[in-house]
Amino acid sequence: MHSLIIEGIGAPLDAADDRTVLDNCLDRGVPMPYNCRSGECGECLAQLVSGRLQELPGADPAIYTPALRDAGMFLTCMCYATSDITIRVPLRAGDAPPIRQFDAVITSVARFGTRTMRVEVRPQAPLVYHAGQYFEWHLPQLSAPRSYSAANAPGSETIEFLVRLHEGGGVSELLQRAELAAGDILTLKGPFGSYDLDVSGERPLIMVAGGTGLAPVKAIAESLAASGSRRSVSIYFGARDRDELGYARSLHELCASQPSMRFAPVLSHEPEPSPWQGARGLVTEHLAATLGDQFGAQAYLCGPPQMINQTIAILEAKGAMRSDIHCDKFSPAGSHGH
Ligand code: FES
Repeated sequence: MHSLIIEGIGAPLDAADDRTVLDNCLDRGVPMPYNCRSGECGECLAQLVSGRLQELPGADPAIYTPALRDAGMFLTCMCYATSDITIRVPLRAGDAPPIRQFDAVITSVARFGTRTMRVEVRPQAPLVYHAGQYFEWHLPQLSAPRSYSAANAPGSETIEFLVRLHEGGGVSELLQRAELAAGDILTLKGPFGSYDLDVSGERPLIMVAGGTGLAPVKAIAESLAASGSRRSVSIYFGARDRDELGYARSLHELCASQPSMRFAPVLSHEPEPSPWQGARGLVTEHLAATLGDQFGAQAYLCGPPQMINQTIAILEAKGAMRSDIHCDKFSPAGSHGH
């Protein structure tokens, strides 16, 4: 145990040796900035004022550059304190919902096509979270928690998640063997992650999702619709083929019912011939070819790192500010995997 002082916050915190600096702060309710908790987004950057840290490998070098390291900056999600430390960090303003661990009953498990399952759970008590946030699943059968974004807007009795099925995936296998099924109790912890996208704003919003990255995008779109927002929202959904469009249907219908929302699926592996009349190719290629100027637009991206990095470059080239682009990258299976 070491002491952790955050400049500007009164008492030092006790930092457990086996928890990252970020987790130690979140455990004690400090409103730290963060999103991915795996070195992918850079939102948890802080300045080391004094003390020593041990750095975990695996941070994205495009996000955490040698120049930042040389300037004494570190990613709080990727470092452990190895002595008493003092750090400087811009704390989040606003109403971060409290993070807690709780049990929820699985109310339904539904399969969409061959690669996706939707799992719906009902917590025992009403839960506060923001659209775009995610929860950890703590399963006794798995050695580490898995993270999934809520796929529906807050305010309902249930939370919906999308699980991508893949061979050897811990949660995938449990669901496919029905060892995780309706009626079971699931232990969740959260909500975690970004909640600072200003959904009440009026600037145009572009959302780009890859695969089950559609989950937080759907939650944000539902929140906007429920709030009566009239802002222009364009959603681009990169999927492999028509098999993956099943779970996008309700979002597609929502957008069709909202005059200011637009939904554009782009299929990368739909075989020819096929009844598919829509866009083909990578969603990034489609964006590069069809997007007009994005000066003043806000963006929310969720999907694999390559899709996100390319989309950021496209949006910046079209005039969007990097600070207006919010990202939720999939991490390698096991952490923030969706
Ligand atoms: S890099 Fe630390 S929260 Fe994303």
